[in-house]
Amino acid sequence: MKPDFKPGTSQEKIKAIASFGAHVSSGKAKFFSDLGMDMVMGDRQGAFLADMDGQKKLFNLHCNGGVFNLGHRNPELIKLLKESLRTFDIGNHHLMSRVRAGLAEKIAASMPGDLDYTVFGVGGGEAVDLAIKVARAGSDRKKIISARGGYHGHTGLAVATGDRKYREPFGVSSAGFVQVPFGDIPALENAMAEDTAAVILETVPATLGIVVPPQNYLPAVRDLCSRKGALLILDEIQTGLGRTGKLWGFEHFHVVPDMVVLGKGLSGGLYPIAATVMRTPLEKVFHADPFIHISTFGGAELGCCIAKRVLEISADQEFLDKVNKLADAFALHIQTLQEKYADFLVGFRQLGLMMGLVFEGELSGPLMTKTAYDNDLLMIYANNDTTVCQMLPPLVMELDQVAWVMERLDRSIAAARQLCGDIGSR
Ligand SMILES: Cc1ncc(COP(=O)(O)O)c(C=O)c1O
Repeated sequence: MKPDFKPGTSQEKIKAIASFGAHVSSGKAKFFSDLGMDMVMGDRQGAFLADMDGQKKLFNLHCNGGVFNLGHRNPELIKLLKESLRTFDIGNHHLMSRVRAGLAEKIAASMPGDLDYTVFGVGGGEAVDLAIKVARAGSDRKKIISARGGYHGHTGLAVATGDRKYREPFGVSSAGFVQVPFGDIPALENAMAEDTAAVILETVPATLGIVVPPQNYLPAVRDLCSRKGALLILDEIQTGLGRTGKLWGFEHFHVVPDMVVLGKGLSGGLYPIAATVMRTPLEKVFHADPFIHISTFGGAELGCCIAKRVLEISADQEFLDKVNKLADAFALHIQTLQEKYADFLVGFRQLGLMMGLVFEGELSGPLMTKTAYDNDLLMIYANNDTTVCQMLPPLVMELDQVAWVMERLDRSIAAARQLCGDIGSR
């Protein structure tokens, strides 16, 4: 069936959608066309991305979970990438690399304790897979505990830590993987056994609906892991690199994990890279055979050049101060909206610029995504709690853009509230 296109849609865009539907994903092409969200990305800069026709321009309140922390096409990073291309390319994953070493050294300096070794990957799932491999190889234990509704990626081991809907259709085995409710210490204690190799958690689970843990939760998890001889892996793929107002999200909770997984924002939105950071004693896993884990593109030298600068920018105190000012401005505005829509906007979750809006009704999140889109905001609901809309603006947005965004959010909430009422979902 041919989708209906808005008047003025260019032939190029119609062709692009047809080609996407015929060769990339027929399901996605239909889904977005049916919803009237048939955007095909065109120009993008800073906080904005435009449709290839230029008919639609969205403020990015999702940032791919942090990929665009520093905005789309950050000019400083583009300049650096061009300069880096004069000397570097992917590099060779078998050989030693000065840029990989330089980035790893910088990551080590930014981390507490002896989190001094980094193995690089391409994407977050791959980096999570490696963390699990290291936890098992280093301990001769097999069991991995994660949070129900948490999310660590779609790759082999990472997908086994997540929701069954992501693994069952593919027949992925989840033997040795156990899930407990996030925030529930007695449940975790119950699940811990002699053969528990690691507990893996997002510092603030994003897909579960930006659930900010109480101050005592992660310290209690840390304590439990230490007592039972299990490792604590924190997934900072979304919470890392300044998103929460501190360089690393776990700093808010005064815990030191055994491994930290990084991805998304490390790329500067330009060059895919991910990292598994581990405490020095864990590196022994690679002593007998340093080639036992390989990633051809992991830690590509061009990516390392970008990631090193991303880390410098994100660790700067002035940068973090601005993130916190932005967070305060959002909180103030959201408070007003909560008063205005008290029966619909029923909660606000926030750690810095990692924010979640909680609405009334199961369909509220998806409807908010649609009404936000209609009001020029890109905002995605939390897949494992559809009453929550995630709000992750670029960390480099301007303070005076907050009011502009909030005006549109106000209209989006009013429209979604109306729609929820119409379909009886409230
Ligand atoms: C918290 C978290 N961990 C892991 C991943 C997986 O990362 P990737 O998609 O790069 O494999 C994601 C991706 O959304 C994520 O949000």
